[in-house]
Amino acid sequence: MIHPAPDHQIRQLLEGPFPVVRLPGIEIAQADCLAVMRGLPDCCADLIVTSPPYNIGKEYEHRRTLDDYLAWCREWLRELHRIARPSASFWLNLGYCEVAQRGRAVPLPYLMWDLSPFYLLQEVVWHYGAGVASRLAFSPRNEKFLWFVKDADSYTFNLDAVRDPDVKYPKQKKNGKLKCNPLGKNPGDVWYFPKVTSGANRASPERTAHPAQFPLAVIDRIVKACSNPGDLVFDPFMGSGTTAEAASANDRTVAGSEMRADYVKIARDRLMRAIRRRESERSQLHLVLGE
Ligand SMILES: C[S@@+](CC[C@H](N)C(=O)[O-])C[C@H]1O[C@@H](n2cnc3c(N)ncnc32)[C@H](O)[C@@H]1O
Repeated sequence: MIHPAPDHQIRQLLEGPFPVVRLPGIEIAQADCLAVMRGLPDCCADLIVTSPPYNIGKEYEHRRTLDDYLAWCREWLRELHRIARPSASFWLNLGYCEVAQRGRAVPLPYLMWDLSPFYLLQEVVWHYGAGVASRLAFSPRNEKFLWFVKDADSYTFNLDAVRDPDVKYPKQKKNGKLKCNPLGKNPGDVWYFPKVTSGANRASPERTAHPAQFPLAVIDRIVKACSNPGDLVFDPFMGSGTTAEAASANDRTVAGSEMRADYVKIARDRLMRAIRRRESERSQLHLVLGE
């Protein structure tokens, strides 16, 4: 049974001279992430999930020198550390960027892993199968998620909520006891999730007009594993609102920022559709159960 997220925990969290989209348990400010975060109290977010601009000239960024880019990253990473609760996790999705004279596709984790006081717990490889084809090198098929925590000895991790039921020998026993957890195996640190695709006849059902959308399933796993119902999830680079949709579907509250008005509208429309869909599923369930 899905319960609505507790609104009182989030009401008017994002305060400032900027427009805010407010839906049940969701707040997205159309503003620069630093301006938004500077208005937030210390230690308010239980989980942070995000993917920043990679400084590769996408439509939503202006290219900077590498030094400028990393200096900017350091600023928002430090703000994120300030607003993270002591038990919080921070999941940072990063791809590649060119470093003049040094590397054509340098993994951004090599440049960014140590720019904030967060503790790096693990690197997870997101393998996405198909993608652009390369002739001069191997075709790129992965990005990374860096999983940081604030306290290396105490953080939320709900492994049972994300176990992989695809076990080869589920009935195998040792000394009369099942070898594998009946809920499934630990999903490991290489995750296969297809990218959100576009194009006639091949677009993913969740596709929006945003050019760099996370697959919902990846964020769903992170939200389930690293937060609990009612927790506050934050995404400073909200884009099309994937983090908000995954968090809200799992009864977490969610806040974030997105600079572009057109993307905020995409996120708002998408989130309203998701809320309506869940409400209709809930009322059908009530009908079936005769409540
Ligand atoms: C990689 S995309 C995030 C996509 C998102 N994960 C999704 O699933 O749709 C990065 C986003 O950050 C936004 N952005 C860039 N600079 C920003 C800033 N200073 N403050 C807030 N948002 C910013 C861009 O407009 C873009 O939508």
